[in-house]
Amino acid sequence: KRVVVLISGRGSNMQALIAATMDPAFPGQIVGVIANRPDAPGLDTARRHDITAIAVDQKAYENREAHEAAVLDVLAGLDPDIVCLAGYMRLLSATFVLRYSGRLINIHPSLLPLFPGLETHERALAAGMRIHGCTVHFVTERMDEGPIIAQAAIAVEAGDTAETLSGRLLAAEHRLYPHALRLVLDGTVRMTNGRAILERRA
Ligand code: GRF
Repeated sequence: KRVVVLISGRGSNMQALIAATMDPAFPGQIVGVIANRPDAPGLDTARRHDITAIAVDQKAYENREAHEAAVLDVLAGLDPDIVCLAGYMRLLSATFVLRYSGRLINIHPSLLPLFPGLETHERALAAGMRIHGCTVHFVTERMDEGPIIAQAAIAVEAGDTAETLSGRLLAAEHRLYPHALRLVLDGTVRMTNGRAILERRA
């Protein structure tokens, strides 16, 4: 199956997905990476792996709609079965989300539905959480909502700062995202009527 990854920055989750998909037994391959900014470091990482990496510079478009239409055009050319958001820092319109409904997934650095939005590590610490985590979910029209595919939790340690916590969580993200992608690609999890259904395995 064909997978396209959308990024905005460093692309470490994208890199984890690339690494996982290099295993011939993985049920999909990354056929392209798209960034909304030409300086996203992840673009070079993808190119080093001989993956088509395309910048659709948001600054070159008059408004959000025009930029998104251009992203949709590039995506259509890559013909993905699944689209993975990996640190893609732009809200997607209902048109986009519906076009790829059930085939569009995102990783978020919190145990959703706790802490949607930004600064999740700071907020988890401020709330006195003793665990923190990450979530891969199907993308629906509302930000950081949508049926949960898989989650991983880590312990909050004494003396943790947002930096130490996010560093440990990132390692968990890099394990979780390939796992969750595999579940979607092989049909173990699918979105039906706005819910993520887990297939029972014999
Ligand atoms: C990750 O923490 C991810 O959960 C969030 O944005 C960050 C992206 O990091 N959505 P990277 O670009 O994958 O390194």
